[in-house]
Amino acid sequence: MKVAINGLGRIGRRLTRILLNHSDFELVAINDIMDIQLAAHLLKYDTTYGIFNFEIQVEGAHILIGNKKIQYSQSPEIENLPWQNLNIDIIVNCSGTNKNSPSLSKYHVFNPKHVILSSPSESESVPTIIYGFNHEAFKNQIILSNSSCTTYSIVPILDIINSHFEIEYFHFSTIHCYTNDQNLQDAAHQDFRRARNAGQNIVPTSTSATKVIQKLFPNLAHKISASSYRVPVANGSITEMVFTLKNPTDYLAILDLLREVGLQKYKNVITFTDAPIVSSDCIEMPFASVVDLNSISLTEARFLKIVTFYDNEHGYSSMLHLLMQSLK
Ligand SMILES: NC(=O)c1ccc[n+]([C@@H]2O[C@H](COP(=O)([O-])OP(=O)(O)OC[C@H]3O[C@@H](n4cnc5c(N)ncnc54)[C@H](O)[C@@H]3O)[C@@H](O)[C@H]2O)c1
Repeated sequence: MKVAINGLGRIGRRLTRILLNHSDFELVAINDIMDIQLAAHLLKYDTTYGIFNFEIQVEGAHILIGNKKIQYSQSPEIENLPWQNLNIDIIVNCSGTNKNSPSLSKYHVFNPKHVILSSPSESESVPTIIYGFNHEAFKNQIILSNSSCTTYSIVPILDIINSHFEIEYFHFSTIHCYTNDQNLQDAAHQDFRRARNAGQNIVPTSTSATKVIQKLFPNLAHKISASSYRVPVANGSITEMVFTLKNPTDYLAILDLLREVGLQKYKNVITFTDAPIVSSDCIEMPFASVVDLNSISLTEARFLKIVTFYDNEHGYSSMLHLLMQSLK
């Protein structure tokens, strides 16, 4: 299957490396508004993930990665992408723009089998996919949203608990590394908090995950609250989930359930660790959620806390890759 990526930022570059390290897809085109030389340089050198082990060169309007030749363009508009003759099967939109259905529908001119958005969509009509939870149900849809890294860290766990217990109330907090949507120094930004120096502040912010989760779990729609903080680390994040269960349960029963369902239904999506790790240890772990067994607690038999780590870039991009594989 032929793949094109629009937006070669943190997620676009992560996905590029994943696709080049596996040979299950053919990456034929990349588009980003940045200069081709810079695109090649940022693919090769990465502060978080180190130097890419492929030779990378620029040749005219192509980037050569190892023995693969990838067409590169710099169009900010979908309608001007030079992709007509490429027979692209899957387009992945990682530009952080064009998130609504009318914009994503512009990709139809290239006749792709699927268009995947690397974030929640602004349009209700675009289905939100969490691999393992609902990916089978939307195989025939062209435009799909792969949800967000934070939603991915929550949904498998919430699904397991929600399927076996009655939840009276659910609260989650995400403690997320900074991203390119914040400023390095205090500077202009439409969000007053994201305007501030990302390296020196714990920044309370909003998360799109609440709305998405309410839609995926209609029975919990009025029982969810959330907090979200950006913190001064470059990668690696944590979600803390707190459940109030209607009926008393047993700590070991929860552990068994998480492990049993997690390793079957959510194989390759979640994993578990009993090592006393910190956030940087989850970097490059290819999972949506790494459950921290040491942090699970059950108070008064009804108040359950579960903490998971996630590499918000590599874990999320690995979920993009899993979704793409399922569409083959
Ligand atoms: N960074 C994360 O942890 C993370 C995790 C999951 C999902 N996401 C989502 O993925 C998307 C991209 O996030 P990111 O962190 O990679 O952002 P980023 O800022 O690192 O990358 C965005 C890239 O898109 C390019 N771009 C901007 N406008 C464009 C246009 N009109 N056409 C083509 N390219 C354009 C930019 O030059 C940049 O290289 C966002 O929607 C984000 O919410 C990010």
